[in-house]
Amino acid sequence: HIVTFGCQMNENDSEKIAGMLKEMGYEESDRLEESHIIVYNTCCVREHPESKVFGHIGALKSIKDKRRDVVICICGCMVQQEEIVKKIVEKHRHVDIILGTQNLHRFPEMLYSVLINRNVAVAVKDCGTSIVEGIPIKRKDKIRVWVTIMHGCNNFCSYCIVPYVRGRERSRRMEDIMDEIRALAGQGYKEVTLLGQNVNSYGKDLDGKPRFAELLYKVNEIKGLERIRFTTSHPKDLSIELIHAMRDCEKVCEHLHLPLQSGSSKVLKDMNRKYTKEQYLDLVSAVKENIPGVAITTDIIVGFPGETDEDFLDTLDVVKKVEFDMAYTFIYSKRKGTRAAERTDLVPGDIVKERFDSLVRIQNDISKQKNDSLLNRTLEILVEGLSRTSDKTYTGRTRTNKVVNFPGNENMVGSLVNVKIKKTLTWSLEGEVVQ
Ligand code: 5AD
Ligand code: SF4
Repeated sequence: HIVTFGCQMNENDSEKIAGMLKEMGYEESDRLEESHIIVYNTCCVREHPESKVFGHIGALKSIKDKRRDVVICICGCMVQQEEIVKKIVEKHRHVDIILGTQNLHRFPEMLYSVLINRNVAVAVKDCGTSIVEGIPIKRKDKIRVWVTIMHGCNNFCSYCIVPYVRGRERSRRMEDIMDEIRALAGQGYKEVTLLGQNVNSYGKDLDGKPRFAELLYKVNEIKGLERIRFTTSHPKDLSIELIHAMRDCEKVCEHLHLPLQSGSSKVLKDMNRKYTKEQYLDLVSAVKENIPGVAITTDIIVGFPGETDEDFLDTLDVVKKVEFDMAYTFIYSKRKGTRAAERTDLVPGDIVKERFDSLVRIQNDISKQKNDSLLNRTLEILVEGLSRTSDKTYTGRTRTNKVVNFPGNENMVGSLVNVKIKKTLTWSLEGEVVQ
C-alpha cells in the first residue's frame, strides 16, 4: 500500500517503488489495514503536509501492534532531513525502513534485511553524483506517462528546501531518456511529461552539454507519441531557443508552467530568483508572441518575510497583466536550514491571509474568463478515461492542459477527439464530441 505526497517527481518515485515490489512478487493494494508493506512517500516543501505525515505515522502504530509482521517504510524528501530521521527512529519505533530520495534503488535490499533480521534499515542522504538507471517501474496511467530527465536543483531559492533534500542537479543521459520514451511509445503511451526541478538547465552537467531544447526536438521525432509536456521551468533559464522549440515541435503542447513566486523585484531578489518583475513580463510577452493560444500557469508564494502591501500589489499587477490560466498559490512556510528561515521580519498571519484570499479571488476570476473565451470552440482532447463522478462522462485534456468532460465511450480512451465546448467552469470545461 503506497501513499504519495507532494509533486509529480514523488509520484514518479512511487511508481518505481511499486515497480520494484511488483518484481519481488507483491501486489499493490488500496487497503491499508490488510497490506503487508506500507509505504509513505513524503514531501517537505511546506510545513503543513509534513505535520500531516507525522499524524499518519503515529496512526500506523495501532496496525503494527495488531500485526507485528507488517513492514512500514517512510521515504521521500522528509527523511532527507537529519532531525526528521532522528525523530522517527526515536519516537516512532514501529517504522522499519527509512529511505531517502537518492537511495530508492536500495529498497529491495533493505526490505530483505528487515524481513530476515527484523531490524530497522536506514538509507538517507547522498549517494554521490551518479544516477541509477533501470529501476523497474509500475506506471499508474496507461495513456500519459511521466519521465524524470534530471534530479536535484542548484538554485537555492532562499525559501526552498528542495536543493538540500534532492541534492545537486544531475541530468540523465539523452540516450537513456530517448530509449525509455521510445519503449513507452511502443507500449502505446500517447503523452509524455518530462520532469525535473528545473528542466531548462538540463544537460549542463553532461559531456557535450546537450540543451533541453535539443532533447525536445529529438523526443518530438518519436513515432506513436502525440503530446509532449514538461515541468518545471525556471524563468531565469528559459531561453529563446526553448520558446522556438515549443513553437516548432508539433507534439510539444501549448502550455508553459512558469513559476512567478512574487511580482515584486525586491522580494524576488530576497528570494534569490535572479529575475525582476520586468524580465518576467518580457519573457511572457516573448512566449505569447511565439506560441499563439499558449496557456501559462504559475506558482505564487504570499507572505514571504518582508513582503509589504506594495510588494503584494506588484504580484497582483503581474497576475493581471499575464492573465495566468491557473496559479498554484502558497502561503510562505518557514523551512529550517534555508536562508529565509533566518529572517525575523515575518508578515503577520492575518495580513497574509487577507492577501492570499484576494489573490485567489482575482486569479479565479481570470481563470474563469480564460475558460469562457473557449466557449463554442472545438478543441483537440486526449481522452484519459471515465470521469470520477459518472459512468457515462469521459474526461481528457486540451493541449493547453485544461480538463474537459464530455459524454463518450470506452473506444475513445487513448485517442484524440474533437470536442466542442458547451459550458465553462473555473477549473474545467464541458462539451460534446464532434466529427
Ligand atoms: N513556502 C511556501 N511555498 C513554497 N514553495 C516552495 N517552498 C516553499 C515554502 N517554503 C512553493 C513554490 C514552488 C512550489 C513547488 O512550492 O511556489 O514553486
Ligand atoms: Fe526550490 Fe527554487 Fe529549486 Fe524550484 S528552483 S526546487 S523553488 S530552489
